[in-house]
Amino acid sequence: MAKVISLCNQKGGVGKSTTAVNLAAFLAALGKYVLLLDLDPQANATSGFGLNPHRLERSVYHGLIGGCQPEEIIKKTPLFGCEIMPASPDLAGAAVELVNVSGREYRLREFLQRIRGNYDYILIDSPPSLGLLTINGLVAADEVIIPVQCEYYALEGLSQLLKTVELVRENLGVDLKVMGALLTMFDKRNKLCREVAKEVGRNFPYYVFNAIIPRNIELAEAPSHGQTIFQYQPSSRGAKAYRQFAEELIKFEEKIKHASF
Ligand SMILES: Nc1ncnc2c1ncn2[C@@H]1O[C@H](COP(=O)(O)OP(=O)(O)OP(=O)(O)O)[C@@H](O)[C@H]1O
Ligand SMILES: [Mg+2]
Repeated sequence: MAKVISLCNQKGGVGKSTTAVNLAAFLAALGKYVLLLDLDPQANATSGFGLNPHRLERSVYHGLIGGCQPEEIIKKTPLFGCEIMPASPDLAGAAVELVNVSGREYRLREFLQRIRGNYDYILIDSPPSLGLLTINGLVAADEVIIPVQCEYYALEGLSQLLKTVELVRENLGVDLKVMGALLTMFDKRNKLCREVAKEVGRNFPYYVFNAIIPRNIELAEAPSHGQTIFQYQPSSRGAKAYRQFAEELIKFEEKIKHASF
């Protein structure tokens, strides 16, 4: 059964989509079967893989509102072992369309149920809000990873996010865990950046990944070529950091598995 991981932070521009796309690429490069699910109407993860969100016949939107099977939406990517369930801008209307539907928080979870056996990992790229789309992503997930940008307000809003995870667990009856935080856009020459990283290490109540994603221009350029960093600049610092993160994540999973036997 796939481990479903939601990349979540209601703050915008912290590196959720960059992490979703490049983690998917490196997990696949390390031999895992991965589905990247784009749950954001901005569709950055979709275009990051070179797909045009405006030209899709079907997207995760059609899965959420019903009448469509996952296989009809999922597309192969140029990377072996990595598939994508793309988003389109009409996903923005899904929250309104589902407002009177009972069990609306469980739509994605139910939709993914049948294909969970096909992958090792399903990664969900969430929009920058704590609305119904994000809640669907959390309810569908086993674990949450929180990308945290190394900047002054980094920790602000994290307690609200952790509270939301708790509410989802308690009120919606799912077994959802916070796996940890990933520091992104780190600039080691910047004193504030170093202090924020230390502060997160000290005060974040869950695991903080040892892998730290540097601020790296190639990571920002890759999506404009419709490529992951693995394809665009595999020797860049950004690529090395995402590879290290993927390796750490796999090790982390193995440790949990052994601990529970
Ligand atoms: N490590 C990095 N180094 C340099 N630029 C980065 C890095 N990570 C992300 N970026 C750039 O920063 C911007 C925001 O990143 P990204 O889109 O991944 O954030 P996000 O959290 O998904 O945003 P949103 O909340 O809008 O969905 C993008 O232009 C991206 O290319
Ligand atoms: Mg994004």
